[in-house]
Amino acid sequence: MNGTKRQITVPEFVEFKQQSHRISMLTAYDFVSARILDEAGIDAILVGDSLGMVFQGHETTLPVTLDDIIYHAEIVGRAVRHALVVVDLPFPTHLVGGQSAIVSAGRILKETRCQAVKLEGGEDQAGTISALVSAGIPVMGHIGLRPQSVHTMGGYKVQRDEERLLNDALAVQQAGAFSVVLECVPAELAEKITKALDIPTIGIGAGSQCDGQVLVLTDMLGLTTEAPRFVKQYANLQDTISQAARQYREEVQSGEFPASQHSYK
Ligand code: KIV
Repeated sequence: MNGTKRQITVPEFVEFKQQSHRISMLTAYDFVSARILDEAGIDAILVGDSLGMVFQGHETTLPVTLDDIIYHAEIVGRAVRHALVVVDLPFPTHLVGGQSAIVSAGRILKETRCQAVKLEGGEDQAGTISALVSAGIPVMGHIGLRPQSVHTMGGYKVQRDEERLLNDALAVQQAGAFSVVLECVPAELAEKITKALDIPTIGIGAGSQCDGQVLVLTDMLGLTTEAPRFVKQYANLQDTISQAARQYREEVQSGEFPASQHSYK
């Protein structure tokens, strides 16, 4: 895959909607995972601020810094040859105004090989999205459940305010975003939003009728202890890694490892 296909561009990603090509997107934070996902043909890789929870062990995404995100995005960008790579703007880099958001997003594009940023916000962030897009920075919006606003929202809850979500989606598109994530939105409403927009919607806990889907990699690989209901677990790496570590410990203790083929003469 890596040797034969060039990297997906932002306009090509947008065209996927018209082509009815359902977009696959997963998160990655490290070189090995990013390389494997890229070689598997995943369309887009998100260096999400979910790394604060699943990589750094925080309770929320709020502690993630711009330097943290750039550190991981630089590593992921170096591994990817085919997928579009999108990087989260961490809290509160985009909430302090368009100019400041340009400086933060500009660092991401200058210091990594990634092509676009994602930011949480709807109508309230339209001005910032528009400033970033005018500066030549492609933006993916993120509406519905916004994990950076967990304290305001009172927890990680399904978002059901139809009027507000439709307004948010249209405002994000109008401001120039090339795509929008819909997180924890009832399936019927997500379908309605998807039909109302020209840009692709990427669902997470938003049913099957979005233009694409995104999952947090550790959730779908079975490495997260309490994954949300919307996650499908495609592997159980927790058990695989645990079993391998136990066997290794036993073989080191018994002297079975290393055997002669693992040793030099
Ligand atoms: O940070 C992240 O991984 C995300 C996805 C949940 C969409 O924003």
